[in-house]
Amino acid sequence: MDNKSTVDLSWDEFDELRQPRADTSDFDAVVDRAISRRGFLGGVLAFGSGAAVFGSGVLGSATSARAASAVFGFEPIGIATDFDIHVPAGYEWRPLVRWGDALFSEAENAYSAVDGVPADMSDKVFGENTDGMETFEKDGHVLLAINSEYVNPKINLPAEAEGVPQTAEQVQMLKNMQGVTVVEVADQGEGWRVVVDSPFNRRITHDTQMTMSGPAAGSDLVKTNADPAGMSPLGTMNNCGSGKTLWGTYLTCEENFNGYFGTTQEREATAEEKRYGIGGEGRYAYEKFDPRYDLSVEPNEPHRHGWITEIDPTDPNSTPVKHTALGRFKHENAEMVQAADGRIVVYMGDDERGEFMYKYVSNGTWAPGQPTEGLLSDGTLFVAKFNDDQTGEWLALTPETTGMSIENILVFSRLAGSKVGATTMDRPEWIAAHPHRAEAYCALTNNKNRGVKTNAGGDETPVGGPNPRETNRYGQIVRWKPEGGDHGAAKFAWDLYVMAGNPDVYDNAYGGSDNVTAGNMFNSPDGMAFSSDGLLWIQTDGDDSNEGDFAGMGNNQMLVGDPDTGEIARFLTAPNGAEVTGLTWTPDRKVAFVGIQHPGGHWPDGEGKPRSSVIAVWRQDGAVFG
Ligand code: FEO
Ligand code: CA
Ligand code: CA
Repeated sequence: MDNKSTVDLSWDEFDELRQPRADTSDFDAVVDRAISRRGFLGGVLAFGSGAAVFGSGVLGSATSARAASAVFGFEPIGIATDFDIHVPAGYEWRPLVRWGDALFSEAENAYSAVDGVPADMSDKVFGENTDGMETFEKDGHVLLAINSEYVNPKINLPAEAEGVPQTAEQVQMLKNMQGVTVVEVADQGEGWRVVVDSPFNRRITHDTQMTMSGPAAGSDLVKTNADPAGMSPLGTMNNCGSGKTLWGTYLTCEENFNGYFGTTQEREATAEEKRYGIGGEGRYAYEKFDPRYDLSVEPNEPHRHGWITEIDPTDPNSTPVKHTALGRFKHENAEMVQAADGRIVVYMGDDERGEFMYKYVSNGTWAPGQPTEGLLSDGTLFVAKFNDDQTGEWLALTPETTGMSIENILVFSRLAGSKVGATTMDRPEWIAAHPHRAEAYCALTNNKNRGVKTNAGGDETPVGGPNPRETNRYGQIVRWKPEGGDHGAAKFAWDLYVMAGNPDVYDNAYGGSDNVTAGNMFNSPDGMAFSSDGLLWIQTDGDDSNEGDFAGMGNNQMLVGDPDTGEIARFLTAPNGAEVTGLTWTPDRKVAFVGIQHPGGHWPDGEGKPRSSVIAVWRQDGAVFG
């Protein structure tokens, strides 16, 4: 890893670079724990009591290898190792929008298979590395809001060694390839396409004017030279997962924002910066060309990122709002539900090894048609604590519980979570709430440091609870039911819906839970969404080498799970190199839009550069499938 350019690292590897493992490797301790796996297996069997908690606990339940039941309506597909998309018999797919595709006619010929997109057109095309997305409707128009998470500098800047930008213009182009795209789409008889020049089409980038709400807005921590009032931040970046408010706006979730900031002068990082992986050189050299990204000039600029940002896709002139009340961390997605009394609840994960799961609860209540003022700016942030007995609680992050000011709690939420003893998790990715009952699921994608190393704040990462495997390379999905069926409740019961694993390689806990078979195995669950029929769609972002621990798993994929039986079936396989991330449907639920990020080969064009794309998937018989 030391010899690898930082632009080639995964975000997980970049975290490791920022928080290297101690020189005195605890190798002996690691081996000791590994040897005790037999004991650990006993623990897994004990999880079978989850069946008593939920009536359908998977661990220890009877679900096993079998063909998908009629509930899925398709024959599950096998693994793939090629550079193509595969879907079940009876389904079709085609690209909807690719990196570099024009949103406006002036950019129609902007993309080149050799050079990519020129700087002056880079904010008029679809961005790179598609991620979370949601569907909206306005006066009969169908709109998608779609995140572009990060850039592949080598693909965007093929003429520069290692893709390292050499000019301010190149930095501007890379910045523009990130952010959010709002685009109208329509099926005018030839399948779903982008409506070029729609008045709704819009790019929201690093440089879009925004405002802030909530207790940390206007605080000293978010003031900069350019914005002495601390109320007018520019831009959103590293937009990962998404959310949709109950009132029809888009939530974009700022994840690995830390990597864009660097220092041009010798400077010791603060404890808060270290917890967030901020300091040293940035990943993309932005700080060398734009002082906004230079920590030695603007130390508070990173405090203006790492938020949940609300965008109204139906109004192209609307100003996005960064909601500080929802906390600052590496936000994966934002799943909004309602408490029994009408308060707004937002579940959120912080995707880094050993970080936490959060919940925001508004003070005010809401019903359709009522004003939304204050719902995402006036409330309480909670962090999850899981107990080994399959209960858990939400711990409030307040000045009383943390000894921190409310501004510090929100800007440095990770430190606040540590103060109250939150449970260190195996990289919380997407959270999805069941549409018909009070139950939510979080994908814990993997954590090679579980039981081996603390998180960046020094919190221990013990093996146990919802993180039951040391050096967890496969991941699991935890689910919880709030007490009394009320998402506003302080307590919950939990179990594991699935522990991913490889039953061909391991006959212990690394072989996965009973609902993982040689026929449906996968690793690193990440994206998740429920369809209206109450099925859980699971997207993976894992090791697609198809070797060793991952032999027989093939490329990354999208599966569908039945929460009641535990059954899981493979629906789609991605091109090698890609992760599958982002899922939404047309309003009639007949077409799914699926994100294919960082593909390899020459996908989807068959020649030239690989292009991150959103695809449309539909049933040949035109029936609903979402
Ligand atoms: Fe952007 Fe944690 O995935
Ligand atoms: Ca993700
Ligand atoms: Ca991931």
